[in-house]
Amino acid sequence: MDVEKVLQAAVAATEAAGSEFSLEEVRVRYLGRKGELTKLLKGLGQLPQERRPSVGAAINAAKDELQSKLDARRIALASEQLAKKMATEAVDVTLPGRRPARGGLHPVTQTLARVEDIFVGAGYQVFAGLEVEDDYHNFAALNIPPQHPARAMHDTFYFADGSLLRTHTSPAQVHVMEHQGPPIRVICPGRVYRRDSDLTHTPMFHQIEGLVIDRGISFAHLKGTVADFVQRFFERDLDLRFRPSHFPFTEPSAEVDVQCVHCLGSGCRVCSHTGWLEIMGCGLVHPTALSMSGIDPESWSGFAFGMGGDRLTMLLHEVNDMRLFFENDLRFLEQFN
Ligand code: DAH
Repeated sequence: MDVEKVLQAAVAATEAAGSEFSLEEVRVRYLGRKGELTKLLKGLGQLPQERRPSVGAAINAAKDELQSKLDARRIALASEQLAKKMATEAVDVTLPGRRPARGGLHPVTQTLARVEDIFVGAGYQVFAGLEVEDDYHNFAALNIPPQHPARAMHDTFYFADGSLLRTHTSPAQVHVMEHQGPPIRVICPGRVYRRDSDLTHTPMFHQIEGLVIDRGISFAHLKGTVADFVQRFFERDLDLRFRPSHFPFTEPSAEVDVQCVHCLGSGCRVCSHTGWLEIMGCGLVHPTALSMSGIDPESWSGFAFGMGGDRLTMLLHEVNDMRLFFENDLRFLEQFN
């Protein structure tokens, strides 16, 4: 067989090989132990003596040439593959990064912070109080003894040991009076619990309690404080009205209405066509509540107020369904960030 022809075929096969694997097949086919060039070399013996050196040299030269073509092809294949890999696995460093989702404070939490800020700016301290209370602090120390009818209005969650989930933030007042003598200026925001669930009630809701005790505190101080607070909270001049009311731990007691933030008093759905929105209960701290917590009512007097954090949030943002704040639908909540 003609060495030159075999070599040409082998080189053509080498150039055509598309992978390391097919390249190895080519090598075996021509240079392996039973390869075509190897066979030619073995067949030298059949040739006449005088032709053997030149044919042998030609075969060896062909083997060397094929080997170097195979090597070159192997290198070319490897760099082709690398280029392909780089192209498909490339990272586009100019793409914007994936940001972590940004959380935000719940609108009710924002309201509590807003109220805190207003009062802290007026020199009040913040005390969160306890969510698990005892009967004494939640009721008795607030002049609500056992059998008092006011207890019926607080549908209380009790634990087996007699402790309970506070039904209002007022017990925080008691802790402050017990642990810190007057003068007192404190604001107590937090969660409260009642066995109540309907359109306008959730079993957990928020209240913000305020307590001021000093010498000569009168109802005028209370009115001024509430008026100032409402102006700062709603950032508007809204009319206020104090209606006589009753709470066991204050005397006299009042409920405070603000001019409807929605219709400004002309009457709408938000204010049930009254033009007014109730925002808090308040009053001068009852002498019995003072003395039960170790404060002499002859020397000191004070006022207290309590308001609903969820309700304030609804009024501030003119949202009319309280449940929206507790369904945790991000499409709703994200509007407040
Ligand atoms: N604790 C009352 C309630 O939950 C609200 C309240 C009314 C708090 C009058 C007060 C107050 O501090 O003076 O219904």
